[in-house]
Amino acid sequence: MASNRYWLVLPAAGVGKRLGSSTPKQYLRVAGHSLIEWALRPFLEDRACENAVVALATADANWAGVRSQLSRAVYEVPGGAERRDSVLAALRHLKEIGVADEEWVLVHDAARPCVSRAEITALCQAVWQVSPESHGSDRQGPESQRIEGGILALPLTDTVKRGALEHGQVASRDTLSREGLWRALTPQMFRLGALREALEATAREGRVPTDEAQAMEWQGAGALLVAGEATNIKVTTQSDLTLIEGVLSHRAREPR
Ligand code: C5P
Repeated sequence: MASNRYWLVLPAAGVGKRLGSSTPKQYLRVAGHSLIEWALRPFLEDRACENAVVALATADANWAGVRSQLSRAVYEVPGGAERRDSVLAALRHLKEIGVADEEWVLVHDAARPCVSRAEITALCQAVWQVSPESHGSDRQGPESQRIEGGILALPLTDTVKRGALEHGQVASRDTLSREGLWRALTPQMFRLGALREALEATAREGRVPTDEAQAMEWQGAGALLVAGEATNIKVTTQSDLTLIEGVLSHRAREPR
């Protein structure tokens, strides 16, 4: 039986080419720490977190310097070609070290350094509240989609346009309804066995999900959408770095 504890899986094997830096983005330093340290910190400080598995690129020359700064020793595994493969490598490792399939796993991108303890707690509490304690029971009724976990997400607030190429420029063709549309963030939370099987299935079928929730959807399982914070930005461009600098500098000044 799973307790109200979880394991963290942190895919960190990407190279982050879009930022144009020779250093992978998770190792860029902002407000005194690398982004990966910032991303790990709220989990390693959380007593509900059993421990973390970090998926790393094979020729990663930067991790050793981060490892020595962490408040706890974490597990390390080689990542894969796609983010899905890195997550799967970490989930397989959890099975190998004897973690039970019904235990909870939170998957969080190393490139999201501003996730807050409040967001992690909100996600866990929402999922634990709706989840039956064991696989066998079904409190959700036969008609509703099986809810097997949850993800942090943000409802769309901007007007949404579909762009199309017109004379070499992108022009607006139409405006989409944003009703019911959310942006998926991380962490994403599912049981170890169900998530591993869902990702194994995508690998067998040769299709790559954009996130864990999509792999679960392909198995017919839904996820709660738990409102995250606008500051939980995934660093992709230079302007993302400018935004997170403000958030993390503020956090660095907060009493611990
Ligand atoms: O490239 P993107 O920003 O979507 O990557 C999201 C996260 O997945 C990052 O933390 C990155 O390091 C990780 N990743 C990975 N293995 C890959 C590709 C990306 O662990 N093959």
